[in-house]
Amino acid sequence: MKKIEVGILGATGMVGQRFVSMLEHHPWFEATWLAASDRSAGKKYSEACSWRLREPMPAAARDMMVYECKPGKAPMLVFSSLDSSVAGEIEKEFARAGHVVVSNSSNHRMDPDVPLLIPEVNPDHLALVRTQRKQRGWKGMIVTNPNCTTVGLVMSLAPLERAFGLEKVLMTSMQAVSGAGYPGVPTLDVLANVIPHISGEEEKVEREAHKLLGKLNDGQISKGDFIVSAHCNRVLVEDGHTESVSISLKTRAALEDLIEAWRKFRALPQERGLPTAPKHPIIVREERDRPQPKFDVNAEGGMAAVIGRARPCPVLQFKYTTVSHNTIRGAAGAALLNAELMKSEGYLD
Ligand SMILES: NC(=O)c1ccc[n+]([C@@H]2O[C@H](COP(=O)([O-])OP(=O)(O)OC[C@H]3O[C@@H](n4cnc5c(N)ncnc54)[C@H](OP(=O)(O)O)[C@@H]3O)[C@@H](O)[C@H]2O)c1
Repeated sequence: MKKIEVGILGATGMVGQRFVSMLEHHPWFEATWLAASDRSAGKKYSEACSWRLREPMPAAARDMMVYECKPGKAPMLVFSSLDSSVAGEIEKEFARAGHVVVSNSSNHRMDPDVPLLIPEVNPDHLALVRTQRKQRGWKGMIVTNPNCTTVGLVMSLAPLERAFGLEKVLMTSMQAVSGAGYPGVPTLDVLANVIPHISGEEEKVEREAHKLLGKLNDGQISKGDFIVSAHCNRVLVEDGHTESVSISLKTRAALEDLIEAWRKFRALPQERGLPTAPKHPIIVREERDRPQPKFDVNAEGGMAAVIGRARPCPVLQFKYTTVSHNTIRGAAGAALLNAELMKSEGYLD
């Protein structure tokens, strides 16, 4: 199969680097066009980018020219990891010009006609792009993935919502510094410290969880029927967001029923064998001190939500801990899986 050429908007950033790395050996897509701000445009990628991944920069990317974020010469499919101060307008400009924009940025996630997707959870919401194209009169489209904190939470909630119904959710996060981009949080702020505020994060988690677990009817998404409250904290971890979650359910369930629902969880990406899909989207650990980002963040290539410490909660009903990779499952890997779902549904033909 001839690979589909793809572009990356924001290719020099933390998430952009993940895209470049994850696309190096992708069986369907090939990165042929990189773009970033005018600080980087006109330079070689190796000069423009402060490469911060442990994997080496792919040789093919080193000499690629970085372009300005303007449609025209870009491939039909573009991934976006642009800073949110500019993503909103640039992504619209690309969709208007006929590009398929698969975005990580928060700007359009809550637009009523933009799909916000986790392919294992709500692949049917992709059909919203028909409404989007009709309403906006453009040939292109914008499809988004959730915030890096929302994704681990909602992957852990989805099987429980399906089997038992969710009533209340309380989540406290301990979020990695790579979630703030590069150069990110100043050392003096985060060293030997916990920062109990990440601007806009709690609101994003609460809103996005409702959209992801909502139902699509007649081109509209109704909110999920549960209450959710998030506390978000930044901690001195490199990669991987850890979340302590308490829940109550609408119907009766035993702890073993929750564990079985998580262990059995498989969905469309697994059935179709999409290239970036983890075999096991949820991994349940039994050790009393797991999951930990240090050991569990790269499970299934960084695409799994790892759950552990499931136990009764005296305030709500149950509580547990989950870890997921913020720049893979929470960003570049999430967008790649979205594009793979779109390809398998014929949206990229
Ligand atoms: N980090 C995560 O874990 C994570 C997870 C999920 C979602 N996200 C979202 O993904 C996006 C990127 O995050 P990040 O962590 O990769 O941020 P980052 O490291 O700060 O990278 C930002 C990117 O945007 C580009 N950019 C900045 N200003 C621009 C402008 N005026 N015009 C064109 N390009 C511009 C930068 O290019 P230059 O290098 O040329 O400045 C860089 O490529 C954000 O919207 C973020 O909220 C991040």
